Amino acid sequence: MPEPVLEALHLTRTFGDFVAVNDATFTLQPGEIVGFLGPNGAGKTTTIKMITGLLAPTSGTARVAGHDITAAPLEAKARIGYVPDTPNLYGKLKASEYLRFVGQLYRVPPAQVEERMRPLLDLFELTDVAGNHLDTFSHGMQQKVAIIGAFLHDPQIVFMDEPTVGLDPRSARLIKDLMIRNRDRGRAIFFSTHILEIAQTMCDRVIIINKGAIIADAQVDELRRMRGDQSLEDIFLELTGGRDVDEMIKELEDVG
Ligand SMILES: Nc1ncnc2c1ncn2[C@@H]1O[C@H](COP(=O)(O)OP(=O)(O)OP(=O)(O)O)[C@@H](O)[C@H]1O
Ligand SMILES: [Mg+2]
Repeated sequence: MPEPVLEALHLTRTFGDFVAVNDATFTLQPGEIVGFLGPNGAGKTTTIKMITGLLAPTSGTARVAGHDITAAPLEAKARIGYVPDTPNLYGKLKASEYLRFVGQLYRVPPAQVEERMRPLLDLFELTDVAGNHLDTFSHGMQQKVAIIGAFLHDPQIVFMDEPTVGLDPRSARLIKDLMIRNRDRGRAIFFSTHILEIAQTMCDRVIIINKGAIIADAQVDELRRMRGDQSLEDIFLELTGGRDVDEMIKELEDVG
């Protein structure tokens, strides 16, 4: 077994009396794409923020390539790429300026920044607008710039919080390709999504969180086999659903 690239160890976060994430423990190996699934409010964003050093855990910790995010944040963060759930870029910068700035933050030599950003800008059809200010970009365009920024320093693991939200089908496909290419180079990808079809086709493994607790962590094939070859959607609804969804829809229909 190679060294894990990520160890989330007993991560817990409370807000007042409310436990948003409760004792989340899991690991990622290099070369894995792992989907992070869970209903709204389950604790996905909170977990990702704790792992990436944006939110202090109440208890527990995360190690990135052996570096503790709390004790050695710079070493850990240097190995992480992160795409937040809503892109929050500096609107006054041009896209190219923003990417060069990100490159500097991560100490990527300028020539290498240019070399890496050009094909990615091309891929996402942003080359022609790279000289425009980010506050003139649409949500999807900003999202794509944020994704390019996350891969610029060739991190060992990239965290993406609902990366395909707001992206057109072609861009969503390009992101899938980008994830697969990086996985095949031994990088790890951890991303949250509500699109179970993407999770089923893209992920080597899925981790499901519900009400702050990890309730499943398994290879997609294995999970489906264990549950009578149901679709990931049916498994998800069964594992996370209080009441049966079909039954509730039926009731709504009866009400008219
Ligand atoms: N800063 C905060 N203060 C208080 N409660 C918070 C805070 N951040 C998150 N929470 C609560 O923690 C829970 C988990 O939120 P989180 O954003 O992690 O969910 P999520 O799984 O990412 O949901 P979604 O699918 O809607 O993005 C929610 O009940 C939320 O209200
Ligand atoms: Mg979220």
